[in-house]
Amino acid sequence: MPKTADFATRVVHWQASQGRNDLPWQNTRDPYRVWLSEIMLQQTQVATVKAYFVRFLASCPDVAALALASLDEVLGLWSGLGYYSRARNLHRCAQQVMQLHGGAFPQDAATLTSLPGIGPSTAAAIASLCFSERVAILDANVKRVVTRVRGFDADVSVAANGRALWDAASSLLPSVARAQADMARYTQGMMDLGAMVCTPKKPACAVCPVQVACVAFSAGDPERYPVRSRKLKRSSQAIWMLWAQSHAGAVWLARRPTPGVWAGLYCLPLFDSEAALRLVLGAPAQEQLLCDPAFVHVLTHKDLHLHPCRVPLTHKTELGEGRWVSAEEWPTLGLPAPVRKLLERA
Ligand code: ADE
Repeated sequence: MPKTADFATRVVHWQASQGRNDLPWQNTRDPYRVWLSEIMLQQTQVATVKAYFVRFLASCPDVAALALASLDEVLGLWSGLGYYSRARNLHRCAQQVMQLHGGAFPQDAATLTSLPGIGPSTAAAIASLCFSERVAILDANVKRVVTRVRGFDADVSVAANGRALWDAASSLLPSVARAQADMARYTQGMMDLGAMVCTPKKPACAVCPVQVACVAFSAGDPERYPVRSRKLKRSSQAIWMLWAQSHAGAVWLARRPTPGVWAGLYCLPLFDSEAALRLVLGAPAQEQLLCDPAFVHVLTHKDLHLHPCRVPLTHKTELGEGRWVSAEEWPTLGLPAPVRKLLERA
């Protein structure tokens, strides 16, 4: 097997010629842009993030602008990306960068992890991409590359194996002498390898630049890694949504409580059953109730079976917690993606 230094060099050369080099958050060392993109990319596909990233930057071009924006504005810009705690942490993080760090992002991974929403892998991504710090990232894609290359067969779903996995990732980094020149491209290369070549199913080992260094390839069974005994438990939940509309196109919306699904967003009132939903309506309104067929909205841990129940109201009566929001205002609010789609369809 080649020396470890060869591994990093191969990744760096491959990234330059075969990796992704024209994404909107690349070709910059601005930590604001890199941080924003890394947070967006945590749970969302590159193809979706591109448009959100560009739109977000147009409204909040730097960390000072983001810190000054209202949380509602930030949630509005995030609306449709899901996992809204990311947007709340983003906003808090910008404020802390302004208040605690004089408006400049810290330049090392250890200090970056003290900020809201920045975990060890995101901190390492920012520090290596922007400041060439010699630290390993370890998101899901990179975990796959590292466990396969090293034949790391401890269970990655067991927290106690985390340290050994970081050590394995760190053992592959460019040498100290090469770090300044290579770290940014190496980090991007590891992400690109995981996304483009070292895929969960049917990895493209034939075109992999580190095939010669890969234990899993030699053993002929790359899909065996990463070893994960505990699978994510999925559940499902049925939810009835009260979709009250006025003549003029206003809708009744309530802010979702924190914590919980869609925390902080504006949403149609949610109920566990159609009977519970009917309880908040007076008798005449109940007769107008029209429950559309359910559709499924997929979250990481849960499938939501959403039943939208429409009720046209002649008077804007109060419907429990919430308020009437005009046809002009609701499109500007932070709404869960499935709710926005429903309202846009009407
Ligand atoms: N996923 C996380 N970070 C990424 C990046 N910088 N480029 C592409 N995909 C990513």
